[in-house]
Amino acid sequence: MITLRNMADHNAYRGIVKKFAHGLLPFILLTGFFTAGTQGRHAVNTFPMVGDKYFINRNHFNNEIPFWKNFTENKLVVQVVHRTLGSLFALLAFKSIMDVRKLQHLSPIARKSFYFLLAAITTQIILGISSVWYPLPIWNANMHQAGAVTVLTALIFAIHTCRRVDPRHIKNLLGKLRVEDPQAFH
Ligand code: HEM
Repeated sequence: MITLRNMADHNAYRGIVKKFAHGLLPFILLTGFFTAGTQGRHAVNTFPMVGDKYFINRNHFNNEIPFWKNFTENKLVVQVVHRTLGSLFALLAFKSIMDVRKLQHLSPIARKSFYFLLAAITTQIILGISSVWYPLPIWNANMHQAGAVTVLTALIFAIHTCRRVDPRHIKNLLGKLRVEDPQAFH
């Protein structure tokens, strides 16, 4: 529950989650759809290396199609772009653990929502890597698809626990403070 006392920490929490999720997640989902659509999990079954290279290079691009189409139709490029964005997303999420730990007044439900989000992302990364290493079992790819829904759900839940307080509700918050902490109210 958001109160006057924990409002600042909830605002900070919203900023932290937004910072790593808002810009990246839509692109991860989009590139994931392209990966599934082109059967990209069969393109290369090594991770984190791309075959014997560290990353894709110009030899992996198909010159017979327009350059931009490589990002939607070239299954190798599509897979590598997707997994790179996914890994970056996970790294940024783990990096924010320290920032969230510093927020001492965060409500228990907001804190739990963060750990739920981290757990969903970790599981998703493991399932993603195993779809690359073992592209044949379709259940693995299916689990990764379900994992994406879970990550999105966890993110919406996390944002919901720290939604912005409408200034018109300040009166209610003051009322709550009066009941919860009469000394601070006076
Ligand atoms: C949090 C990070 C990630 C999210 C949210 C995510 C999301 C998605 C989504 C939405 C799809 C399309 C599923 C479908 O429509 O069937 C997908 C496909 C795929 N992703 Fe990810 N992904 C993430 C990380 C990764 C990572 C790190 C890897 C590899 C190391 C990976 C490998 C794949 C592969 C191989 C597919 C194609 C699966 C298939 O053929 O159905 N993903 N991902």
